[in-house]
Amino acid sequence: MSIDFGTDIYEEPIVAKTFLQEDTQEGSLRPKTLREYIGQEKAKGNLAVFIEAARRRGESLDHVLLHGPPGLGKTTLAGIIAQEMGVNIRITSGPAIEKAGDLAALLTNLSENDILFVDEIHRLNRAVEEILYPAMEDYAIDIIIGKGPSANSIRLDLPRFTLIGATTRAGQLSAPLRDRFGVTLRLELYTPEELCLIVTRSASILGVAIEPDGAMEIARRSRGTPRIANRMLRRVRDFAEVRGNGVITRDVADEALRALEIDFLGLDPIDRRMLGAIIANYGGGPVGLETLAATIGEEAVTLEDVYEPYLMQLGFLTRTPRGRCVTRKAYEHLNLSLPREMSENGEQLHL
Ligand code: ADE
Repeated sequence: MSIDFGTDIYEEPIVAKTFLQEDTQEGSLRPKTLREYIGQEKAKGNLAVFIEAARRRGESLDHVLLHGPPGLGKTTLAGIIAQEMGVNIRITSGPAIEKAGDLAALLTNLSENDILFVDEIHRLNRAVEEILYPAMEDYAIDIIIGKGPSANSIRLDLPRFTLIGATTRAGQLSAPLRDRFGVTLRLELYTPEELCLIVTRSASILGVAIEPDGAMEIARRSRGTPRIANRMLRRVRDFAEVRGNGVITRDVADEALRALEIDFLGLDPIDRRMLGAIIANYGGGPVGLETLAATIGEEAVTLEDVYEPYLMQLGFLTRTPRGRCVTRKAYEHLNLSLPREMSENGEQLHL
């Protein structure tokens, strides 16, 4: 099996929504089998059955759509599916496939039962998406040769392949594309206990000494996301080596994460600015996402995909038809006094 990972390299903070260079460099942290993969029990259980069934029949796996917030292991899971199926995987992304011909080239180079992994599949353009429909359904593509009245269409057969699409926003997929996936799996934010196992496993692979309390501290502050947990582990290791004796204890983790302005629940300065702006500028909400994004100088999609899932899981933020609102818990976390409506009737505002 070969895995061909793209390398998106950006200078970004701990909560960056994309891969950083170090995330791809230390590919050794990625689990290679379903047994090694921690958490996502529902998705894992279903996948194990589908993989086993396809293997027994000697067929390719049905097309799989993975969706959920960034950093939860969608690419990792695609690599594992390829490993478990014993096939090759080609990794690309929606924005990287610019023309119909780019996709045709990718598809015609696959071998029987191979996997094509398309990250950010919601960002495919229309012309490319239309090539994908017959490819997924009939394992064929129609190629137009020539121009004008003499143009001819020829049908090219493809090997039976599996498309694995990943997206942070399943709602943005067009209905015809969504309907062509036989399997749809939603990945959920991880629990602190699961993240603690992931941090402990990663520390062992990296050869970093870590105490159980140190691992739990990182887990609690990594907002349900293994990619963030692994990034934090590396930063905390730096503190442990420079300021301590190399061992990650709870105190070292706390010192490092405070220095990175990550609070005890894992909120970073952007989370706090977001909640603070809703309170200070919009009386706790509701405020529309675009307005909020402009107010704090961030992109709306980043707030929606990267920041909101965790704030909503914590119960700090709600989405209403009229916009975003903060809850009583958010005021309490930020140490701000509650508005009169909340302190009088004990209810959350605007719910
Ligand atoms: N590293 C990143 N995600 C992981 C997971 N779900 N299980 C084990 N290690 C991981």
